[in-house]
Amino acid sequence: MLKAVILIGGPQKGTRFRPLSLDTPKPLFPIAGLPLIQHHIAACVKLEECKEILIIGSYTATLMTQFVTDMQKEYHVIIRYLQEFTALGTGGGLYHFRDQVRAGNPSAFFLLNGDVCADFPLKELWTFHEERPNALVTIMGTEATRQQSIHYGCMVSEASTKAVTHYVEKPNTYVSTLINCGVYVCSLQVFHTMAEAFQKKQDGYYSNAKTTWMRESIDKYSVSRMRANIFSQALDACATLARINTRLVNNWWSQVKTAGSTIYANRHYLELNRYKQTQPPCQIIPDVFLHPTAVVDSTAVIGPNVSIGAGVTVKAGVRIKESIILNNATIKEHALVMYSIVGQDASVGEWSVEGGTPSDPDPNKPFAKMDNRPLFNTDGRLNPSITILGVKTHSSSAGCSPHAGLGGGSWCVTRAPRGAVSAGEGAHAPLDRSRVRVLLFPGETILLNSIVLPHKLLTRSFKHEIIL
Ligand code: GDD
Ligand code: GTP
Repeated sequence: MLKAVILIGGPQKGTRFRPLSLDTPKPLFPIAGLPLIQHHIAACVKLEECKEILIIGSYTATLMTQFVTDMQKEYHVIIRYLQEFTALGTGGGLYHFRDQVRAGNPSAFFLLNGDVCADFPLKELWTFHEERPNALVTIMGTEATRQQSIHYGCMVSEASTKAVTHYVEKPNTYVSTLINCGVYVCSLQVFHTMAEAFQKKQDGYYSNAKTTWMRESIDKYSVSRMRANIFSQALDACATLARINTRLVNNWWSQVKTAGSTIYANRHYLELNRYKQTQPPCQIIPDVFLHPTAVVDSTAVIGPNVSIGAGVTVKAGVRIKESIILNNATIKEHALVMYSIVGQDASVGEWSVEGGTPSDPDPNKPFAKMDNRPLFNTDGRLNPSITILGVKTHSSSAGCSPHAGLGGGSWCVTRAPRGAVSAGEGAHAPLDRSRVRVLLFPGETILLNSIVLPHKLLTRSFKHEIIL
């Protein structure tokens, strides 16, 4: 019997994923129609031997309950969410719940980082691990560029045996282009190595604490901090004992750290799943995921690489490519949406253009991975990325269009929706909800490389801005 553990972190993590993670925990963000970690679950259940999946994180259980119930119903395997009392770090949560992992004495367990996406070759990894009975851990490895490798766990391995002889977590200088994908097969004995790593760290803490007061102040939170990196320390220790192997995989793999990386992940998961539209409602350029409850006008053109969620309305003449449209959003007549994420319940106005810059890996560099660039560059400017329209955002005034009898660039009268802030009038303008406002409504609202936080009403065009 095999088990799988998916590490999903908690609300403190995924900051680069904002504002997408403001409403939905990052592990549940839909990519190609499925929550991010459902792709992990789907890969695990393909292995008949995998009987139980444990999701470990520090999100409150209420956020995860519905998802876990839905997954149990869909996949008929035991799926449980184990909540950490505080963020215990990558290895800390695994170590804390080790008895749950060991229960039932599985032959081994898969350990998957929740923030990666891949064509997970779990069967291949398991066979590889099984063939090496001495191995404590098998790491899925991939090739990276020399420059990017230092952002990952780096490994040096023996060419013939594939044994890892040297492991360094995110080194300061170049070590190897063979990197850790955050997908492992672990034997249960790995917990002994983790215990030793923890003991070593704890001894270090206590011997450095010179006074009784300092020793007493090592509370359970300090202990959890000590546990935080024990998995990578255990990997280091296992490498010294020559008990890690790496399986080099050339399949598609990427991290999902930034909002921009979801568009890239979306494209690849769509390609893997190859959704077939039996009766396409409009012109579809593959690959496209279209939720059955979406209402799409026959004159729209959708694709490639688009996911459209439940209850979405796509009106006449709309063009969408390389984008994710979340549940109940509305894309109004003749709008153009590309390299964008349209939030839940948001609406893109008539004749609006919403576009971003793809954050794909450099196609000219072999083995290049996605650059998880921070939001701002060193000059304090927004790094070009995809455009994100937050939840319940409206990219133009409802009912007004250049074709509503008013003409392009005309004045029109509109009433702001409840709670909406007119960003065109300045985000800090006091809001009188009952006031009927006169707004300059341009013929087209253009939103480029911008991030719009939830509950906004946009009345003019924006480029390279965060609309707070
Ligand atoms: N349960 C739990 N609790 N999970 C956590 C916590 C925590 O406190 N902190 C992080 N995680 C989860 C994250 O959600 C993610 O899935 C995984 O642990 C690793 O996250 P990070 O700590 O952010 O590490 P990283 O992604 O920068 O690097 C790791 O993954 C790379 C591959 O994506 C390392 O394992 C690298 O060596 C590796 O190359
Ligand atoms: P994971 O994605 O789960 O690994 O969390 P994280 O690594 O995004 O969290 P962390 O706080 O470490 O953010 C990493 C870097 O992203 C930071 O050093 C910042 O440069 C950048 N960043 C994240 N969020 C923001 C933000 O809201 N504003 C700005 N300016 N930069 C941010």
